[in-house]
Amino acid sequence: MDIKLVKKLREETGAGMLDCKKALEEANGKYENAQKILLEQSTKNQGNTRVASKGLCSVVINQNEAILFEDDQISIWYCRFQPGTSVPPHNHNMSAFIGVFHGTERNDMYEHGDEDILKPLKSTDIHAGEVLSIAPDAIHGVTCTSAKPSEAIHVYLGALSRVDRDLYDMEHGTVLAFTDENHSQLTQDKN
Ligand SMILES: [Fe+2]
Repeated sequence: MDIKLVKKLREETGAGMLDCKKALEEANGKYENAQKILLEQSTKNQGNTRVASKGLCSVVINQNEAILFEDDQISIWYCRFQPGTSVPPHNHNMSAFIGVFHGTERNDMYEHGDEDILKPLKSTDIHAGEVLSIAPDAIHGVTCTSAKPSEAIHVYLGALSRVDRDLYDMEHGTVLAFTDENHSQLTQDKN
């Protein structure tokens, strides 16, 4: 057990040392999975309450992403994209709202075409101060088009980290499971 990882997990999630250690053991040392385990535990411990004073969950995934809160009804994320970074098309299987407060995010919407190949539908730039509402069955890709990083609060009407979702590999025309590994492989980071 890497004590440095336990400490890092404790600092980033605010969970107790023992809980962090257990989560890392359960996740076979995989840091991101341990974060998710702690998030699920935190959500369960809160029951269905949404009172902020009972403690919002806070899980920092990396310096560009954090889950601020999640329960069965709602997920609130902070997402930052560096200039030029492109996230591959994906679905959420729930309603989503993206409120940008810094920079600009371009949202490319898609629909299923023949033989499940994605067809571009339209592109929308969301500037700081604007909110985009995305339908539950929508498919979108996101690109930061501003010279400075885009920053946004994403609100999803469900438990985003616990729902099965799809990622679309446009280069090979294939559909993949939305996993951290597939997501980072397909994300084009220009930095
Ligand atoms: Fe998305």
